[in-house]
Amino acid sequence: MCGIVGYIGPKKAADVLVNGLERLSYRGYDSAGVAVMDEKGRLAVRKTKGKLEQLKRLLEESPVDGCTGIGHTRWATHGEPSDLNAHPHTDVKGGIAVVHNGIIENHEALRKHLEGCGAVFASQTDTEVIAHLLNELYDGDMLHTLLRAQGMLQGSYAIGVLCDREPDQLFCMRCDSPLVAACREGEGFLASDVPALLSHTRDVVFLQDRQVGVLSRQGLRVIDEYGQACEPSFFHVEWDQSSAEKGGFAHYMLKEIHEQPTALQNTFAPRSRLGDFQWLPLSEDTACRLRRITIVACGTAYHAGVMGKYALEQLARIPTEVDIASEYRYRQPPVGENELLIAISQSGETADTLAALREAKRRGASVLAICNAVGSTITREAGEENTLYTYAGPEIAVASTKAYVTQTEMMIMIAVALGVMRNTLSMERAEALYQSLRELPSKAADTLGLEGRLQQIASRMSSRKHVFFVGRSVDYALSMEAALKLKEVSYLFSEAYAAGELKHGPIALLKPGRLVVACVTQPRVLEKMLANLQEVRARGAEVLAVCPDALAQQVRPQADELIVIPDTDEWLAPLLAAIPLQLFAYCMAVARGCDVDQPRNLAKSVTVE
Ligand code: F6R
Repeated sequence: MCGIVGYIGPKKAADVLVNGLERLSYRGYDSAGVAVMDEKGRLAVRKTKGKLEQLKRLLEESPVDGCTGIGHTRWATHGEPSDLNAHPHTDVKGGIAVVHNGIIENHEALRKHLEGCGAVFASQTDTEVIAHLLNELYDGDMLHTLLRAQGMLQGSYAIGVLCDREPDQLFCMRCDSPLVAACREGEGFLASDVPALLSHTRDVVFLQDRQVGVLSRQGLRVIDEYGQACEPSFFHVEWDQSSAEKGGFAHYMLKEIHEQPTALQNTFAPRSRLGDFQWLPLSEDTACRLRRITIVACGTAYHAGVMGKYALEQLARIPTEVDIASEYRYRQPPVGENELLIAISQSGETADTLAALREAKRRGASVLAICNAVGSTITREAGEENTLYTYAGPEIAVASTKAYVTQTEMMIMIAVALGVMRNTLSMERAEALYQSLRELPSKAADTLGLEGRLQQIASRMSSRKHVFFVGRSVDYALSMEAALKLKEVSYLFSEAYAAGELKHGPIALLKPGRLVVACVTQPRVLEKMLANLQEVRARGAEVLAVCPDALAQQVRPQADELIVIPDTDEWLAPLLAAIPLQLFAYCMAVARGCDVDQPRNLAKSVTVE
């Protein structure tokens, strides 16, 4: 969503801030701004609607001097994208500047109260109330003021604050929205996400809820909500700057699709010894007692959960539900003994998934988190000991690719482990699956070679208006993800159906000009799928099918275009088939001239409801 950066040190703050904002631009934004303070505490704000190029032009025309500053890229929530609504926001006197991610839920009540005290608001944003509130509460000590403000702010926030009366410090505070701080010899840094810091340092501190951070040239102080100093716990980030950049690819999405062989390997490697299930934080006893698993997630991660349901039920014989996190959190789910909730999230910051996890904990469920972003809020709420990291590396493109395949791989590994522990899966079958998991990265690399073919298909099909995705069993789960991928990057109307459901309504929409993408990776339901495809073609719709080599001969007669993937275990075939379907979505988006990495209306991390 929005991006925050902050800097204090010897360098020209505006340059460091703009550079940091560029690293966060993948999050999507519609305006940007900086506030910079010189040594005498003179504060200057430059902000504008539009892209960072516009902010850079503004800074050229009207430069700001100073070595301490905060910056922001805004994605509008309260108030339209405009110069005035862009952050930073200041109090009436212009002595306190604030950047903010999140939503202040009681902003209207605070606004009324502050107007009553003489505040004059310049914007429609919820953020501006923070600047006026801090001014109202200011007692000569911004740290103390921030701690007092916590009691009055409801909602989620990660904020960076400058105060002209304390010019040698930069303040920050968080609640339910991520914030990372770092320091090195004579410099301090602040950001809402790690990539903004990687060119400076890889040792960072993830602030916890309600902690206040104070950065100065002397280092970082962290204070808890009771005013007690805490020892900052530094975390070494393994990613380097180049892994957070495009590395020669036209788009992050394409780069991340190509990173999937490595990502799959990284997810599997630490858990690759069959029989040694120490990595799974469940004892054999607990595994055997499990009566039900509920998986919660949003979007793509939800689709990985759907795949997980099939695997957990069939391999480990555990009744499993998958719920969209925003539904779970409000449906008052009954939670009994011996139940496990699995939350899946790439970012570990998705508000609904976090809330669903909290709700499950509140109701007494044991929890397990599957996350990519190390140190994220969901991992902390679940507890590091109950977190399984996918190790896919930074995912920058809004459309999730490598997170999806690694989440799906993780779900299958969990199902195999539980299957062996519960004696529902033979060691022989488990070994065969593990062998296929070992071979998966190289087969994933082979599927990347399909890009040229998919480009040709996409250039021929890019003018289609409606695309259907169909599959049965685990291929239905894959169809959902493939349809989401296509719609989010190419803006085409695309929808997934269980192939068996076609006859119950959707077939009415089929006619010449419609495209049906068929996922056909499961031998067990092959005959049924072929019959469905015959029905589709009988209505004049065109079929693009994806299948493994072993099924190609039977599928070919029912497909206008056929994409063939390498043979693998039937549980892993949909995972492999996801790769050409991601490439298909990517190529369609490029052919249609869409902004692949920052699709319309979307943001990478949805930290609000
Ligand atoms: C789609 C996509 C989103 C996310 C969803 C959950 O490509 O990226 O649907 O999957 O917003 O995000 P995380 O996994 O970060 O919780």
